[in-house]
Amino acid sequence: MLLLDGKKLADELKQEIKLEVEQLIAAGGKQPHLAAILVGNDGGSLTYVGHKVKACDTVGFKSTLLHFPDEISEEALLAEVKKLNEDADVDGFIVQLPLPKHIDADKVIMAIDPKKDVDGFHPVNVGKVTLGLPAYVSATPLGITKILERYNIETSGKHCVVIGRSNIVGRPMSILMSGTAKTGNATVTVCHSRTKNLKEITLQADIIIAALGKPEFLTGDMVKEGAVIIDVGTTRVTDTTTKAGWRLKGDVKFDEVSAKASAITPVPGGVGPMTVVSLILNTLKAAKNEVQ
Ligand code: GUN
Repeated sequence: MLLLDGKKLADELKQEIKLEVEQLIAAGGKQPHLAAILVGNDGGSLTYVGHKVKACDTVGFKSTLLHFPDEISEEALLAEVKKLNEDADVDGFIVQLPLPKHIDADKVIMAIDPKKDVDGFHPVNVGKVTLGLPAYVSATPLGITKILERYNIETSGKHCVVIGRSNIVGRPMSILMSGTAKTGNATVTVCHSRTKNLKEITLQADIIIAALGKPEFLTGDMVKEGAVIIDVGTTRVTDTTTKAGWRLKGDVKFDEVSAKASAITPVPGGVGPMTVVSLILNTLKAAKNEVQ
């Protein structure tokens, strides 16, 4: 069984990006700049944004964190998005999701200039990715394709089962896996909460991408011998033996599934670190004006 070590790969990619940033600046270019909007104090969101800011420091990017209280109005948030759209020093920015209920997240995403939408959430980027045109691919799916690429996982002609149809992971992942890029050309089945006979389908999968957000959902009996398993789940479960009082659990029952899999991502240390580095890669693209 091959452990698909996202942490190690992310560290390698950050070192490569750091060198490229140094060269960019030495050649008279500007320091890449990522901004993040965070609303409220959701524990997960605070942690994720913290990782993103730290990664900027590691690779030599400038970062700006704009942290607003839960009560910020939709209008005020849209005004902040507009300011970042117009700030020539900011190459790309994200609005961390979820947003409080009184704010329409779709409206906020659609207000982002697609050229600065390094999360790849704007319909223009989603549409371009669907058409196979140059665009920002959202960070988690991009990170997963990098794992498949760097570990030479064959995807062409394979049956890939994606569990979950979210706008952030499942949907874009299914589009990429069936596309014509190097880590595509798979036959893709998208499963979700209304899918019948899920186990029958997962047992036919050469590659399973579990992105439904239910801890330890995918068990050993649902997986074919030799399958490749990508675990996108990051649910915090109570654990009184840890300092924080919780620990992360993936969507895959690791001990059972790893006994059958040919390759598998761990949680933590699999897809999570690759998501962060993919956002950094998208910001570098933005700084180099590679997406129009
Ligand atoms: N919430 C969960 N994942 C993400 C992500 O990749 N980007 C943003 N902006 N919010 C998220």
